[in-house]
Amino acid sequence: MNRVAHRFDRAVNTYDAHAEMQDALGETLLGLYRRERQPRRILELGCGTGLFSRKLWQRFPSAQFCITDAAPRMVAAAEAKWTAEGKTESASPRFFVLDATEVAWPRGEAETKNLADIPFDLIASNALVQWFQGAQGLARHLRGAALILRSGGDLLLSGFGAENLVELRLALQRMGKSSGSVIGHDAETVQKVVEDEGLVLKSWHATEARKVYASPQDLLRHLAALGATGGANGNQAHLLRSDFKKLEAIYHQHYLAPGGGVTATWSTWAAWLIKP
Ligand SMILES: C[S@@+](CC[C@H](N)C(=O)[O-])C[C@H]1O[C@@H](n2cnc3c(N)ncnc32)[C@H](O)[C@@H]1O
Repeated sequence: MNRVAHRFDRAVNTYDAHAEMQDALGETLLGLYRRERQPRRILELGCGTGLFSRKLWQRFPSAQFCITDAAPRMVAAAEAKWTAEGKTESASPRFFVLDATEVAWPRGEAETKNLADIPFDLIASNALVQWFQGAQGLARHLRGAALILRSGGDLLLSGFGAENLVELRLALQRMGKSSGSVIGHDAETVQKVVEDEGLVLKSWHATEARKVYASPQDLLRHLAALGATGGANGNQAHLLRSDFKKLEAIYHQHYLAPGGGVTATWSTWAAWLIKP
């Protein structure tokens, strides 16, 4: 298991209570997808605890699903949600551990990974691709996904923007620390990669939301509960007790919210792509 997945694995019991941004992003993502599309074979990547999986099941109750994540406990949590909700309409989905950075399998290998359903009609992921580093990581991921998607099939994906949590990045930079928690792709990068990979952008939505946290430590606790500390390469800024004091002072100087607390800007994007 890679280091990013390892952190998510540990956050399995706290993720849902803190995932309001991810949940809202999933709604936006599915909202982009036209009603008349009725995919039968769906692969979900980076399912986490199954928040977005549930939206997919509800929208496409009779589709066949492969639901995957790199973190084993996340896959188990998503499966438990399915079981708890007693789904009967569709064939039981297959849940398994899969690292989405290695999505470009040769066909034979894909079959041994239980992916005999290829090519898929829809490959979907919510709040996953920010973990693929830079334009190159995203391009590699899309190229791989396109290999197991049928012609005319759809990709639904969303992620965080390059300016996500900009206050935290700048504050850590002022302290000479790596901006481990700040990851994401800007709109130009995503759209250029999509075009370069020969995919067609059907629909796009970007948002920016300012949230207030009681303190910078409160924001960091929130990120830890989500499993979202550290950068796409798995590195993480190590903060000592004295660093927290410095962080607090920087936030108080630059990022105080008008009504009290500190500000964090969440920037997200969502896209519906088609493989021509
Ligand atoms: C922010 S969570 C999103 C979870 C879920 N999609 C949702 O909407 O709540 C990101 C998920 O991506 C998974 N992940 C991170 N890197 C991954 C990779 N390389 N391959 C597959 N899953 C990965 C993590 O384990 C985590 O469950």
